[in-house]
Amino acid sequence: MGKILVTGGAGFIGSHTVVELQNDGRDVVVLDNLSNSSEKSLERVEAITGKKVPFYKADILDREALEEIFSKEDISAVIHFAGLKAVGESVAKPWEYYENNIAGTLTLVDVMRKHGCKNIIFSSSATVYGNPAFIPITEECPKGVCTNPYGWTKSMLEQILSDIQKADNEWNVILLRYFNPIGAHKSGTMGENPNGIPNNLMPYITQVAVGKRDHLNVFGNDYDTPDGTGVRDYIHVVDLAQGHVKALKKIEENAGLKIYNLGTGRGYSVLDIVKNFEEATGVKVPYEIAPRRPGDIATCYADASLAKKELGWEAKYGIREMCEDSWRWQKNNPNGY
Ligand code: NAD
Ligand code: UD1
Repeated sequence: MGKILVTGGAGFIGSHTVVELQNDGRDVVVLDNLSNSSEKSLERVEAITGKKVPFYKADILDREALEEIFSKEDISAVIHFAGLKAVGESVAKPWEYYENNIAGTLTLVDVMRKHGCKNIIFSSSATVYGNPAFIPITEECPKGVCTNPYGWTKSMLEQILSDIQKADNEWNVILLRYFNPIGAHKSGTMGENPNGIPNNLMPYITQVAVGKRDHLNVFGNDYDTPDGTGVRDYIHVVDLAQGHVKALKKIEENAGLKIYNLGTGRGYSVLDIVKNFEEATGVKVPYEIAPRRPGDIATCYADASLAKKELGWEAKYGIREMCEDSWRWQKNNPNGY
């Protein structure tokens, strides 16, 4: 096995995955254009693993830069995190999202195949299930209607990568559908670093807790759920990162095309998260009930048994640790990296 190219490796999930890959003895190369991240995350990785992280500041749309990386480095597989991910922004800037995520991935995959590298693990999302046909969601659940361009880029890229694998079975393609990644590295030196006002629940909560925001708006308490607030499957980012280490082993067994949910299989409501956060950290999170957020669904959680059976992976961390670790990162780094 040659080196593993991690696109988007300076980002939240990518940087945590680089730690787990290096700890597993892998030779890693990172590519990132730093559009939504800081190179400092990689210094933190190096401090944790004690290994250098070779880094290319480059864009997946930049064919020449990709050619150079694939010529210089002996890349045998790509873990492809690079992409834009802000749901609201994708509604306002659909062209930018389709260009970056879809054209970027097409360019990456073309350069990969020209260099004989046909192994890819792709960051997909539970968002491809739309309003899920059944709960808990297995991989058999039909894909649904996405409510925003970001979601469509994931759904379309799954189709594109699947078609490429079907046409050429030298390709090994693993689509990982993440549920809701939160938490942070135990060291408290790495974590999620959103720009501006966070869209997602946990970074919003930690910013309220640290005093940067006044209160949490709970988007709707009239859903058909036990307490009326939205239910999601939150997964610790380190568990998620370890899922990629396992997926890489599967790729090396010539997996063909595989799709796995990466979730814990447990659903927590918004108010459950507030309560667990307060209990885990001793910090109060004032909240107000606000209108529903357009595009939100009531309930989304995984049946994660296929990943357990075929990858030998399951999430180890519970909700308390997710809250504690998110908080340690936020408290130690109130302004991010
Ligand atoms: P992130 O924004 O922290 O990481 C993405 C990284 O990709 C960033 O470092 C960014 O600078 C880089 N990037 C973006 N466009 C690029 C380009 N054209 N060329 C090179 N680099 C580029 O996000 P994350 O939370 O770590 O997510 C990683 C992947 O997982 C994304 O594809 C995201 O859509 C997907 N995903 C995330 C979640 C989540 O809740 N965080 C859920 C499901 C799927
Ligand atoms: C959102 C995206 C999804 C994306 C995922 C990961 C939408 C509609 N969906 O998922 O496409 O893959 O992030 O980036 O944006 N909540 C509040 N107050 C807040 C923030 C969130 O009450 O300030 C609630 C939401 O209504 C939801 C839950 O918390 O019930 C989780 O929200 P969030 O963290 O944004 O994740 P998703 O909506 O599941």
